[in-house]
Amino acid sequence: MTQISGSSDVPDMGRRQFMNLLTFGSITGVALGALYPVVKYFIPPSSGGAGGGITAKDALGDDIIVSEYLTEHKAGDRSLAQGLKGDPTYVVIAEDDTIEKYGINAVCTHLGCVVPWNASENKFMCPCHGSQYDATGKKVRGPAPLSLALAHADVTEDDKLVFSPWTETDFRTNEKPWWT
Ligand code: FES
Repeated sequence: MTQISGSSDVPDMGRRQFMNLLTFGSITGVALGALYPVVKYFIPPSSGGAGGGITAKDALGDDIIVSEYLTEHKAGDRSLAQGLKGDPTYVVIAEDDTIEKYGINAVCTHLGCVVPWNASENKFMCPCHGSQYDATGKKVRGPAPLSLALAHADVTEDDKLVFSPWTETDFRTNEKPWWT
């Protein structure tokens, strides 16, 4: 008798526990889902990844500290930093010695060479097949088919530089960005 009722009880218990688990799981899932935007809000962009932004890093992999950076880089300077997806990205110093609101992805749109900045020519000039881009990264000579990609460059309150995806109209061509 005991055995029979015991054996018929076991699956019930098992099912109940299983149901409990499911309920708990879905509640947890819902709670986490609801929390996600809140958590995301509190993660500063400088922590990288959240919101698609990433802290710009120097050649040594250290975060760029903007106030220090500006003591060494003056108006017109275009120097490489590590940007989105690890792409080499130019930090542009504006005429008023501040960091421009856009960074320029240094990867040539022809076959992917990193395009050096030529200050005396005021252009980016690709050594691989001769493509040229103006000071904003707009293509001025092929074989590259497109201008260099842009990224937003913003200075955070804690003196860091954050690159984030540029999804708006490309201000150089007035076209939709080809890189999104
Ligand atoms: S990779 Fe730059 S011109 Fe070909």
